[in-house]
Amino acid sequence: MWTGRRVVLGVSGGIACYKSCTLARRLTEAGAQVDVILTRGAAEFVRPLTFEALTGRPALGSLWEPGGALSHIRLGQQADLVLVAPATAHLIARMAQGLADDLLTTLLLASTAPVLLAPAMNDEMFAHLQTRANLERLRARGVSVVGPDVGALAEGPSERPGRMSEPETILAHAARAVRGRGPFSGRRVVVTAGPTRESIDPVRVVTNRSSGKMGYRVAEAAWERGADVVLVSGPVALPAPVGVRLRRVETTRELEDAVREELPETDVLVMAAAPADFRPSDPSDRKRARVDGALAIPMEPTDDILGATRGLRKQGSITVGFALETGDALAKGRAKLERKDLDLIVVNDALEPGAGFEVDTNRVALLGRDGAARILPLQTKREVAEAILDAVELSLGR
Ligand code: CTP
Repeated sequence: MWTGRRVVLGVSGGIACYKSCTLARRLTEAGAQVDVILTRGAAEFVRPLTFEALTGRPALGSLWEPGGALSHIRLGQQADLVLVAPATAHLIARMAQGLADDLLTTLLLASTAPVLLAPAMNDEMFAHLQTRANLERLRARGVSVVGPDVGALAEGPSERPGRMSEPETILAHAARAVRGRGPFSGRRVVVTAGPTRESIDPVRVVTNRSSGKMGYRVAEAAWERGADVVLVSGPVALPAPVGVRLRRVETTRELEDAVREELPETDVLVMAAAPADFRPSDPSDRKRARVDGALAIPMEPTDDILGATRGLRKQGSITVGFALETGDALAKGRAKLERKDLDLIVVNDALEPGAGFEVDTNRVALLGRDGAARILPLQTKREVAEAILDAVELSLGR
């Protein structure tokens, strides 16, 4: 998403400056044009040369350098985002007052780009009523804020917020600050992901090979687009995406209960989970002993969650289902779209290389209610997630 975007990275003087180098590097690698502006204090911690090497562009500090303030201020006017990381208590106070006594604060006043601050300071300074009031004031003016987190500070361990958020978290918020004002903004999106797990006995389970990757990528992308995202996840080995509310479930019944609870307030449901369709009808509460010969475990069907919760959907909401097939995928997908009353179904064939469970890529077709199929090339799951959300966005706009 960063390709061709312009980011001004404002760096103010705190020890967290060392993490700003990672931010500059990651944004540049992702394709953004990054212009770093340092305050006087920041230049004491990290030399401009470091940022120049990382971004391939001059790092600026003074209003009075050759080139003049005006051309530097233009950077702010052309930016897609002004990210200030770290934002010290002093910088936040200057911003809240509207001061323009150095290049960074001057640029901030002259820019209409979205602004994201990543505060970093001593925990006592962050807790100070004045700092809180300053941040409130900036928030009320539309400035976004990420963190600070709880964790070790330069002066020692702390159990209160003060430490700057990690670069990964800041980058996710930066993407949302840039992209989050479109049709998904303020919408409630529920994504289900991963397998479910049904007990045979306290030790053994019936489950499937779903990794959860597809659903996690959809949740991440929807949050970036400004949605309020709930991710209902079966047992998977993936870190929680930044910003989303994660609800962990284990069985198909728990997944259904969570969907039932969320659905009445949901604008978009993306049902990427692979719930177990059968569960042992009489799970044993003791570990079953080994038997000689064949073992038969009686199973009963679980509910079809999409079908069973159909009546709870909010009016005008959009429901997206998935169909993982092994052959004849389009025809089977079309039948599922109708049977489950979906607006969109994402169809893929598990037998195709690069598609299906456990891999990072997918080759899918999107089928809409009108019967038209859009066959997408082999893409990363993140790219597939974006394509799904593009299709949803068209219907949201209506
Ligand atoms: N799904 C569901 N409840 C289930 C099983 C699946 O809501 N108990 C959802 C999936 O999350 C997916 C869609 O239904 O979005 C299709 O899943 P799939 O397993 O392909 O469909 P089934 O109805 O189980 O059909 P079949 O197994 O007969 O192919």
